[in-house]
Amino acid sequence: MTAEPPEKPRSVEQLREAAASCQGCDLWLEATQTVFGEGRENSKMMLVGEQPGDQEDLQGKPFVGPAGRLLEKALDGAGIDRRRVYVTNAVKHFRWTRRGKRRLHEKPNAGQVRACRPWLEAEVEVVKPRIIVLLGATAAQAVMGPAFRVSKQRGEVLASPFGIPVVATMHPSSILRATDEESRDAALASFIADLKVAAKQT
Ligand code: URA
Repeated sequence: MTAEPPEKPRSVEQLREAAASCQGCDLWLEATQTVFGEGRENSKMMLVGEQPGDQEDLQGKPFVGPAGRLLEKALDGAGIDRRRVYVTNAVKHFRWTRRGKRRLHEKPNAGQVRACRPWLEAEVEVVKPRIIVLLGATAAQAVMGPAFRVSKQRGEVLASPFGIPVVATMHPSSILRATDEESRDAALASFIADLKVAAKQT
């Protein structure tokens, strides 16, 4: 049994319920649950990440782990209230591999991203944001196509196949991976600058 978004989705809740039984790719087998997007249906800004991490998989909510805390700090720095944005992921199941007792994040493959895209499209259709922020390469390529390079076009307002403008930027996890304080601070500052560009569109 697999689930697909309804043709004319009425609400995020309806989509969340439908997506809970999605088996559109193999990721449901090893994940705890579908982690659907969250936020107000009339949000003017939508943020799209890659996929839920370990904490998100367990709690069933997007961006509630370390990357989520960093994201919240950056939103704060950009003067954006997290409660006013809709937050979701390109892929809605956690892809991981076991390393000892830990579950290590694995990047979703192109087929998994493709299989999940109808859910993202349906979220965009219901929420109708004014701007979509694409966090990292997976989200950016899921929406803009495989040739898109965040490094070349980050922080610009671009037309998207959704008919809604997008701003692509880094993924908050990349800031967490910075090895020294100076580069972490610089990365955070540039992330906040990109979020401010997006906020101007709302
Ligand atoms: N990273 C993501 O891309 N999404 C989450 O929900 C958490 C971490």
